Amino acid sequence: MKSKLPHIGTTIFTVMTNRAREMGAINLAQGFPDFDVPGKLKDLVAYHVAAGRNQYAPMIGVPELREQIALKLMASYGQMPDAESEITITLGATEGIFSAILALVHPGDEVILFDPSYDSYAPAVILAGGTPVHVPLEPPRFKIDWQAVKELLSDKTGLIVINTPHNPIATVLSDSDLSALAECLRSSRAMVLSDEVYEHMVFDGAKHAGILTHPELAQRGVAVFSFGKTMHATGWRVGYTVAPPEITREIRRVHQFNTFSIAAPLQYAIADFLKQVPEHNATLTQFYQQKRDLFLSRLRESRFSWIPSSGSYFQLLDFTAISDESDIEFADRILTEAKVASIPVSPFYRLPPKLGVVRFCFAKNDSTLEEAAERLCAL
Ligand SMILES: Cc1ncc(COP(=O)(O)O)c(C=O)c1O
Repeated sequence: MKSKLPHIGTTIFTVMTNRAREMGAINLAQGFPDFDVPGKLKDLVAYHVAAGRNQYAPMIGVPELREQIALKLMASYGQMPDAESEITITLGATEGIFSAILALVHPGDEVILFDPSYDSYAPAVILAGGTPVHVPLEPPRFKIDWQAVKELLSDKTGLIVINTPHNPIATVLSDSDLSALAECLRSSRAMVLSDEVYEHMVFDGAKHAGILTHPELAQRGVAVFSFGKTMHATGWRVGYTVAPPEITREIRRVHQFNTFSIAAPLQYAIADFLKQVPEHNATLTQFYQQKRDLFLSRLRESRFSWIPSSGSYFQLLDFTAISDESDIEFADRILTEAKVASIPVSPFYRLPPKLGVVRFCFAKNDSTLEEAAERLCAL
């Protein structure tokens, strides 16, 4: 049978997580916490299931949750989207990204992706009939050259995808990046998809520069968020998109036949939790920065070097003082020898440069991070 995605295999996350399980290794590969969701949130889910909120939720998401999200965004970014016409609850950020790309990319459109890029973007573009245009970012700083981006734009460019904080390279965009992007877009018809699932994990006093903080970009794009990340609940698969009404209308046209609607009791529970614990999101930065700092402090005696993660719950470690293997070989070896699973970065490139870094997830209990660091120090 002819494949629509002939070059796409199983994601590196699934591959490494399965291997970590087989080997009994510490899994710092896939990005999920090994601690639980807040107890109050679990109680709220149980409450709403018992209260019978078990039938289809509205296609666009339950009003209570959309209203709480609007208030949350107002508190975070000083902009209050309209809950009815601009916010759509999706099946994790993954569905938000997929539905947005399917809605916004037309056959023949080019879509600019900055490599390394999260692995769901390119397949969605291809299924939409678009062509991914991969712009490689160079280690160690992985900076975007906006002048080069401007030169790449043509009337074929339909969409630019950005991701801040970034998975896998743990960088963040600044206000000046957003201004440069807005300037690029002024002479183009392209829209922007901004993947901001790690919005509350921005470290060392920096603030999250998402498109909702930039009125011009907010008008020509969609921002995607995930309660999987902010509620430590990656298994619940609840996320949302925020976009102006005319873009939202198109996203919902796809969403209604993609997933139709998202688990009702989870939506009611998250809405109540946001209302009852409004300070939750603001605690995440410190919570994760402490984990980053603990992990790095325990690696001080190791032969790795690093630039501290600026955002997300990932840390790249440079292994070039230990080995001149490729990142895939090195990740494989430390899984076998140290029993610590990591993620190589080269699978996130179409044409990878030589990379001497692998990615570790620090959304883990302190004891897990300490044990992993001790094993990594022995390399
Ligand atoms: C950059 C990025 N975007 C999107 C997602 C998907 O989020 P969700 O689990 O809500 O589908 C992830 C998850 O790891 C991610 O790292």
